[in-house]
Amino acid sequence: MDILTVIVVGIVLFFGWWYVLLKPRSGLPPGLPRLPILGSLPFLDADDPLKCFLQLKKKFGDVFTVYMANRPVVYLNSYDSIKEALEKKGENFMHRPYLFMLTESLGDEGKTSYASSSGREHKTIRHFTNKVLIRKFGFGTKTYEDHIIKEIEAMFEEIDKNEGMSYDTSDLISMAIANMINVVLYGHRLEYNDEIFGNLLHALQQFCIDMETGQILNIFPWLRYMPWQRSIVDKMAKRKVNQKHIMEQMIQRHEEGHEDVQNSFMTAWLDRMEKEKRSSNPEPVFNNVQMRLVMNDLFSGASETTKNSIYFLLAYMLHFPNLQTRIQASIDEYIGKTLLPTMEDRKKLVLAEATILEVLRCHPPVTLALPHTNLLDDTIGGYHIPAGTMVIPNLHAPHHDERYWNDPHEFNPERFIDGDGQIDKLKFDNVIAFSMGKRVCPGEALARMELFLTFTSLLQRYTFTLPPGEKLPSLKMKLGLTLTIPPYKICAVRRYKN
Ligand code: HEM
Repeated sequence: MDILTVIVVGIVLFFGWWYVLLKPRSGLPPGLPRLPILGSLPFLDADDPLKCFLQLKKKFGDVFTVYMANRPVVYLNSYDSIKEALEKKGENFMHRPYLFMLTESLGDEGKTSYASSSGREHKTIRHFTNKVLIRKFGFGTKTYEDHIIKEIEAMFEEIDKNEGMSYDTSDLISMAIANMINVVLYGHRLEYNDEIFGNLLHALQQFCIDMETGQILNIFPWLRYMPWQRSIVDKMAKRKVNQKHIMEQMIQRHEEGHEDVQNSFMTAWLDRMEKEKRSSNPEPVFNNVQMRLVMNDLFSGASETTKNSIYFLLAYMLHFPNLQTRIQASIDEYIGKTLLPTMEDRKKLVLAEATILEVLRCHPPVTLALPHTNLLDDTIGGYHIPAGTMVIPNLHAPHHDERYWNDPHEFNPERFIDGDGQIDKLKFDNVIAFSMGKRVCPGEALARMELFLTFTSLLQRYTFTLPPGEKLPSLKMKLGLTLTIPPYKICAVRRYKN
């Protein structure tokens, strides 16, 4: 080959490479430019991604594309586009894409977890899980309410020990909320000083930290082979071994017997496993590894999200003490001081319900839901979405859409109360913090109960105040897998003694 040919081939290859990399993918929704290697990253505001997405929505419309390195990611930022993908075309968009941290962190021993799986396996597990959670445990019904109330009483005992003192309630709320799902998984609650329970919660916190520090590996999965990124991957591997060990301890304990074990998700799973064995299903789904993964998903899905929402609610009570007083007055009027609130009181404690909705609207805890993908070529909002595109429902954007909400950036629970003093049904439905369609959060009914009962019971018994010398908690949310705010201290003052 002469020198001229080499030069020509070199030029063609060089520009061809740039053309392939930089050319916007045909038909995809409009969006940020794509730079080599980095994709659209330099154009995003890492400090406040949610605000940045709202600006992009103004510029490009409800559906836009952002490139994570070379991978196009389509963000859905309106009710219509989210509904179109997750409900109308839900069968196609219900799948999960491969994301290094999510898929590898949650999966184990060659199996993907419930939350990150797709296809037949996911459908079978979801169907079984919903059946057990709803039929057996009565998620969202009176049967389950008693467990929650029992846990709230245990939480009161702990708060009373610190009465009037300044402290961070985060760990206590975590334990109480985690126990509300432990009852389902294992058939009984755990003591707050139980060592394995402590380890379980610690592992969960570590998971959240891993998901945050490992975000870079979702964008550039090949970085995991670089020595300076090894520590993230090694930490994740260690945490997984640890988590597996803790879950096995919990399972062993369960097998050793406890008076309530029969009435647990785990027993239901083991029964189903036996049934599947007897039917000699050629493609079995129910096995021990999958059980551990599903229970882990339910535990982590239930714990951080609900705990964070309660933590936000208490922070708002410090920012809006008058609102706290008004909610307390309604509790005193309709329930009094002796009986704890129940779900039947929801219609009466309208301001409390509206405050919970407003917090979920302003800060949907799983803001970017979990990523979805489509099996087949499809369209959203008229744009072509090639099969296998990562699609992210941005739940924060419709919650802050001026077409649906007046002053969407204001915190105003009263927006949910209609002319008859009841919760406005349309506005209730427009809070889509639990997502929608075939992957809608399976814990929605449980979470709504936990939020209402915990929040109203806390305000019935205590007034929450800012400790002397402390600053008001920051309400600036940090976006990880879930939204978080920085830790803060609070005083819980008993309103009455009985
Ligand atoms: C999935 C929100 C509580 C278990 C999700 C998703 C959201 C969400 C947005 C993603 C849906 C999607 O992919 O489109 C919330 C919020 C909660 C909460 C805001 C509380 C305030 C719970 C509870 C449980 C739970 C109590 C357990 C019973 C799960 C699981 C998934 C999930 C297992 C994955 C489902 C699947 O992939 O099919 N949740 N959740 N969550 N949630 Fe929740």
